Amino acid sequence: MVMKNYLKIVLFFVIVVVLMSWKFPETFISPKYDAAIQITTMPDSVALIVEKSCYPCHSNKASGLSASLLNFEKFSALKPNKKAKKLDAICDEISRGKMPPAGFISKNPGLKLSGSDIQKICSWTKSEKDVTP
Ligand code: HEC
Repeated sequence: MVMKNYLKIVLFFVIVVVLMSWKFPETFISPKYDAAIQITTMPDSVALIVEKSCYPCHSNKASGLSASLLNFEKFSALKPNKKAKKLDAICDEISRGKMPPAGFISKNPGLKLSGSDIQKICSWTKSEKDVTP
């Protein structure tokens, strides 16, 4: 009987963990997915935003114009002067509300950048520029 209760408790926690990882994957999977592995200076808080709002078009998962102009997974390989230009462009585009594109936001309203998202990304682009030779 004691053993049975013990098993119930274990089962309960297993279910909680499974449900949590399904509902809130970010608490279990480190936000340092590909972006931060490639861009070591990118803080987790920024990687999380970029993964959600930019990766659909600017990563190895995407193709076409957007990925050829900017690919976060290939970002670290850029030459310093090109990297600096892209960093400026990133902060510029999001500050002017050009990125993510309006069409994408109307389909995914949750992925619109907040003012604080924009601040976080821009503060990263600025610090990354400072360390870019
Ligand atoms: C739905 C697809 C899509 C999403 C999501 C998206 N972009 Fe873009 N992005 C594009 C396309 C298409 C272009 C090229 C055409 C243009 O500039 O409008 C582009 C161009 C850019 C450029 C200009 C690159 C250059 O060198 O000219 C920057 C910078 C940029 N995006 C940043 C971002 C950032 C940062 C995010 C996330 C916050 C983001 N984009 C999300 C589609 C997307």
